[in-house]
Amino acid sequence: MIAVTLLLAMILCAAAWLVIHNAQRAVTEEMQASVALAGDLVENSIRSDSEALAAARRLSDIGHLRHLCLSLVARTEPSPTGCTNDETTEAPDWFSALIRPEALPERRLAIAPDYAMVIVADPDDEIAEAWQDTRGLLALLVVFYLATIAVVYRLFGRALVPVRRIDAALARIEHGDYAIRLPRFSLPEFDGIAAQFNHMAAALDAAQRENRRLREHSLRIQEDERRNLARELHDELGQSLTAIRADAAGILARGEKLPPGVAESAEAIVAVAGRIYDQTRLMMRRLRPPGLDELGLDAALENHVASRQRSHREVSLVYTGNDRLADVPTPIAIHVFRLVQEALTNALRHGAPAHIDITVDLETDRLQVDVRDDGRGFDPQAYRPGLGLSGMAERIDLLGGRLQVDSRHHHGTHIHADIPRASAASAKGRISPEIGKISH
Ligand SMILES: Nc1ncnc2c1ncn2[C@@H]1O[C@H](COP(=O)(O)OP(=O)(O)O)[C@@H](O)[C@H]1O
Ligand SMILES: [Mg+2]
Repeated sequence: MIAVTLLLAMILCAAAWLVIHNAQRAVTEEMQASVALAGDLVENSIRSDSEALAAARRLSDIGHLRHLCLSLVARTEPSPTGCTNDETTEAPDWFSALIRPEALPERRLAIAPDYAMVIVADPDDEIAEAWQDTRGLLALLVVFYLATIAVVYRLFGRALVPVRRIDAALARIEHGDYAIRLPRFSLPEFDGIAAQFNHMAAALDAAQRENRRLREHSLRIQEDERRNLARELHDELGQSLTAIRADAAGILARGEKLPPGVAESAEAIVAVAGRIYDQTRLMMRRLRPPGLDELGLDAALENHVASRQRSHREVSLVYTGNDRLADVPTPIAIHVFRLVQEALTNALRHGAPAHIDITVDLETDRLQVDVRDDGRGFDPQAYRPGLGLSGMAERIDLLGGRLQVDSRHHHGTHIHADIPRASAASAKGRISPEIGKISH
């Protein structure tokens, strides 16, 4: 665009220069011709010295003719430098300055022994005439230039519209918005590109949906499996261990009637069964957060934070929830619980903080989760990718929410999740189609 404008400006300048140059040449030629003609006329019309002087006086009294100045001077006197023409020319100064010849043509005729007639060209009239002719041409050039520029800009602008739209659509794709589609374009080449683009976007859209469905499915299977395992551990292993303990305790209750060594073995069985039972309970807690199914998210989180507090007395943990969290359906609650669980584990494992704040709040239209620690922090752009942070992001993405990780070295870490209530309160397992954005 700039190149075209410059090129046109150069053509305009060249044309203007040509016009002015021609005007200048015309003025010079015209003046030379006038001076020569007037000189010849005066010379031929003056025959004798006596009548010459009288005629010259008359001519010189007229003084200024069109294009010429006539003056009678003493022979020894130098020629006057120009006319004393009071009429100002109507050409603008810049134009006069451009085309006024440097040396004005002049002719000096000897009249009688002591006088001379000086004929000097007066450029002002010529310049005024040249201006009359030239200004129309110059104006036409400028109008032509502006009109061409306007047309070129308009055409370029029109031609660039599809390019701009394609560019914007590609940027949207880059940001994960696969729902974008391009309209049809009148130019077949662009229309072809648009069709290909739409095809690609539709394929990406479908792939993303499928990917989301699979992720959702696999997370659900994982959680279901964990829950089944926890139940089996509780129902089968837990019951059996209790029975073993009860039997061993029954043996011990027989007291002295036992053969030697049996009491010790029974004691050992009670102790080992107790340890396995404790281990099993621990595994059950990890597999399925206690209370989540029966008491809801708030109680489950409170339990969890309290239990982590017991094993990390050097850190102060503060949990703030609210009763409304009971409204969050279990399939959603489990994702929120896992997020808090991982964020808390990360803070305790990597951050060495003095204080961790956990806040979960169900507002009218959103569920907000915040886990803030004052530990050593890390650079979210350059962290060693683990499964924890990406797992969190994936869960929140599936809920149609946004996960934000703010952290700086020595300035603690803040994990913030914002989940639309539509998905937080949605029916069992239904995940909002809204695309989640993860910004670190
Ligand atoms: N609260 C935190 N404080 C300090 N560093 C953290 C915190 N959370 C995460 N990180 C850093 O981010 C990395 C990735 O975390 P994550 O994805 O959970 O993987 P993992 O915990 O298995 O290392 C961690 O190794 C750690 O360096
Ligand atoms: Mg982790």
